[in-house]
Amino acid sequence: MKAGILGVGYYVPENKVTNADMEKIVETTDEWIRTRTGIEERRFAAPEEFVSHMGAKAAEMAIKNAGIKREEIGMIITATITGDYQWPSTAGLIQEKLGLYGMPAFDISAACSGFIYALGIAKDMVEAGTYKKVLIIAAEKLSTIIDMQDRGTCVLMGDGAGAAVVGESENSNIMSVVLHADGSKSKILYQPAGGSAMPASVETVNNRLHYIKMDGKEVYKHAIEKMPAVLAEAMEKAGVTSGQVDFVIFHQANIRIIKSIAEKFGWPDEKNIVNIQKYGNTSAATIPIALAEAIESGRIKKGNIVAFSAFGGGLTWGGAVIKV
Ligand code: UT7
Repeated sequence: MKAGILGVGYYVPENKVTNADMEKIVETTDEWIRTRTGIEERRFAAPEEFVSHMGAKAAEMAIKNAGIKREEIGMIITATITGDYQWPSTAGLIQEKLGLYGMPAFDISAACSGFIYALGIAKDMVEAGTYKKVLIIAAEKLSTIIDMQDRGTCVLMGDGAGAAVVGESENSNIMSVVLHADGSKSKILYQPAGGSAMPASVETVNNRLHYIKMDGKEVYKHAIEKMPAVLAEAMEKAGVTSGQVDFVIFHQANIRIIKSIAEKFGWPDEKNIVNIQKYGNTSAATIPIALAEAIESGRIKKGNIVAFSAFGGGLTWGGAVIKV
């Protein structure tokens, strides 16, 4: 039996932070942020709103839209780099918030490619017959790891969550998933301190090492090369041409990257689902939020073929093609 996405959901925090708000925090301009990235505003979660709260809300919506009983879920996977705690897993905390018990629940760390990584694991679990329904959640609270003194990163990121129920399906289908990584370039985008390599100390805090460090230009260079390549690979594996793709959703990191790759494949703006202007870069959550919003608004309909492409820290990159 083939696996498909049975239902999707999303959640974004209420608090909108505009570029004008960022101008008050760091030396930047609305004009720079809009023209260099496409971002107009982002959401920052309240201090008492954790990744597990956002993830559970997105999951509730996905379960409802899938039309299943939550007890049918056989496994929970959360893709995040900003989990509530270093450990235990945020997936377990979401399980608790959903009132569930007993099924395996774990997190994966694949940064911005996390949703596609989780999708690939869920697809294989379902198609192998191990679990009938797998709940995948991609949720981030990047506002807790951005350095408000680093204008090169702090204006880019936001908070939010997306979720999907993957299960056996006659109609919808995850046609392909392709995943890649290159650990040799891990330090062009990472959080130096807080892990076992550099445990938290007064020094790491004073040196601001618990924040995202990114060599933006270098990351850009790799993103612009890997995202189209993995997309082409995913389409080939799915047996579809770019002309057969109804919609494409790229990881929302920079409008310039998104537009230039879409142009390369000949996709007009109508086929390219973009919401970076509203939410900025929410890492693993960008693709499922955009997918869930587009299904909710009726833009993406049953039977549509949708392609995904993501790139992020690790380095990781991944592509997928689904029939909704
Ligand atoms: O989600 C994971 C994947 N992430 C990505 O794919 C991100 C990839 N990288 C990018 O999207 C871009 O590199 C950025 C948006 C991060 C930066 O854009 P850029 O066009 O590469 O700018 P830059 O870093 O080369 O900086 C250009 C100038 C610099 O000034 P000088 O040295 O030319 O005087 C920066 O200091 O822009 C300056 N700058 C800013 N100015 C105003 C950097 N950040 C800001 C800012 N406001 N927020």
